Amino acid sequence: MLRKLRPALGALRVYKNPFVRFLDYFGFIRREKHLQIALRNGLKLWIRAGTSDFAIADDIFNYRVYDRALMHLTGGQVVIDIGSHVGMFAMAAAARGATVLCFEPLRENVELLNENAKLNGYERRITSHCLAAAGATGVVELFIERANTGGSTRFPSIHPEWQGNEGVSSITVPCVSLHDILQRHDLKICDCLKMDCEGAEFEILQSAAVEDLRRVRMMILEYHPVSDIRHIKARLEDLGFVVHLSGNPRILFAAWPALEVPETPTSRSPTVGVIRRALIGDKALMDILCCPKCRGGLSQAERGLACSACDVTYGVVDGIPVFAPAETQGHDVRVNAIKWKEFWEGFDWEAQRESYLLANLPHIYSHLGSIQPRDWILELGSGPSYLSFDLASKGIHVVSIDLDISVLQNAKENFSKHGREGHFVQGSIYRLPFKERAFDASAGIGVLEHARDIEIPIQELFRVTKDGGYTFQTVPHLSFTTFLASSIRFGTIPHVPVLEQLVSLVHMKILGMRYMRYGYEESYTYGFLEKVFRRAGFASVDVGLYDYNQTLWRNRKQLAPFFYRLIRMKFVGLEPFSDIAYARSVK
Ligand SMILES: C[S@@+](CC[C@H](N)C(=O)[O-])C[C@H]1O[C@@H](n2cnc3c(N)ncnc32)[C@H](O)[C@@H]1O
Ligand SMILES: [Zn+2]
Repeated sequence: MLRKLRPALGALRVYKNPFVRFLDYFGFIRREKHLQIALRNGLKLWIRAGTSDFAIADDIFNYRVYDRALMHLTGGQVVIDIGSHVGMFAMAAAARGATVLCFEPLRENVELLNENAKLNGYERRITSHCLAAAGATGVVELFIERANTGGSTRFPSIHPEWQGNEGVSSITVPCVSLHDILQRHDLKICDCLKMDCEGAEFEILQSAAVEDLRRVRMMILEYHPVSDIRHIKARLEDLGFVVHLSGNPRILFAAWPALEVPETPTSRSPTVGVIRRALIGDKALMDILCCPKCRGGLSQAERGLACSACDVTYGVVDGIPVFAPAETQGHDVRVNAIKWKEFWEGFDWEAQRESYLLANLPHIYSHLGSIQPRDWILELGSGPSYLSFDLASKGIHVVSIDLDISVLQNAKENFSKHGREGHFVQGSIYRLPFKERAFDASAGIGVLEHARDIEIPIQELFRVTKDGGYTFQTVPHLSFTTFLASSIRFGTIPHVPVLEQLVSLVHMKILGMRYMRYGYEESYTYGFLEKVFRRAGFASVDVGLYDYNQTLWRNRKQLAPFFYRLIRMKFVGLEPFSDIAYARSVK
């Protein structure tokens, strides 16, 4: 009952005249009669009665099977739409400002697609190509069935109901490979590849070269029972994509980690630039944010935070601005993001808080110095943001930034549950989306080591710190302990010549980062840390052992005193066994 009710209720929500939907459903309208229907989101569509056209409109606008991709699209992005049918997805993408290249083999569909583009004023954003897509450019045989306007396929076995159906015939159509699409349109980056091509998705993705797939920032496709989708998933994951598979409907969504947003669309999510994204009502945060690309100011726009100079709009998800997608993240950062995402998935915020409170907070505070209630403090790579939470409890303005948005959503929810006020931002430490001198202080616990070039985030920290302000950071210390316990086992890369090359060779080149527990991670000597903070401009730099409650022996009580002495042991002025270093630097 409910299964029948949902589409019916959905029709009320989606179509301005849902009655037509019902008439078509029950076959009361003459077959193939062209109908112009209006959607509540403002789009208009030409469709053919008695065909699968209405069902496809339902998929896109009622069941929103592509929302997961649509919600990331903004002005100026480029979308490749393979199997564009009469352009319903293309229009949804164009409504969000994207430029869409459509590939559709059936002439009748292309004609209607062009009409639809015109009807909505998107002739300039949507271009159509009467072509199929396939593993290689050439020609292919397509099986077609008249009423199933979106079902034409090279693999008729995906439509068991076609067996013995006299209306099924075949035609030969020209086709194009993904490589040639990218090449012909001179696309360095494709922001979204959408495919609904009745089984051809497998060979398109299997035969695509790695360099071509790397150009695709996000893909969403309907897959068909032609081959095993898990092979495709594995291939994409090897390339650094975060991949989500759903079985009903059969959708694969893959994206570069920084783009990936965990939530599946809800009723709030934005099909087609219609339902607005939540804007940030956080005026204080708006005052210190800037565009991470050009560092210019941002303004609230319909779809998020806009930088007019760069002509980009950064999305806002659950009140959290999302900045990192604007950057091209390196492979190391992408692996990092995947590993942290997995680490934070299902993380029990409440249960872990106590131990963080005991293990870290006293030691962090012993270095932070005096903090005034009106200070602005940045917690870098904040994860669950426990430090931010504690600072917020003291009435301090805290901004928590992390690459992983789901851990921030989790933290944000817990902040509000406890009545604490925080500011959350998704972004990368490589390009902080904050204005110069925005913060009185900053802290990062176990974060900088994930940067391949630690100088960059330190320069960023210098830029966002007020004169006289300071930053407190902890990172793995390059010592015997970390070499044995982390470098060999987990590929923590010692930041000194020779060892650096050796561990990188083994863990990155040979083992493909497989055993690197949090992705890319380095360890540093005290001397190097001091130098690098000074080089970035910090005046006084204090480095030493981060005396937190070491996890190494938390569960081995008898050994604790031994380890405790070991890590503090000094030998010709060095601490050869200490495992975590801190650096506190004043601007
Ligand atoms: C060791 S965790 C620390 C979490 C938190 N500071 C704490 O003490 O619980 C490192 C965090 O850094 C984040 N991170 C890693 N690389 C990052 C990058 N390039 N930009 C922003 N955050 C990053 C990860 O997502 C992860 O949440
Ligand atoms: Zn900008």
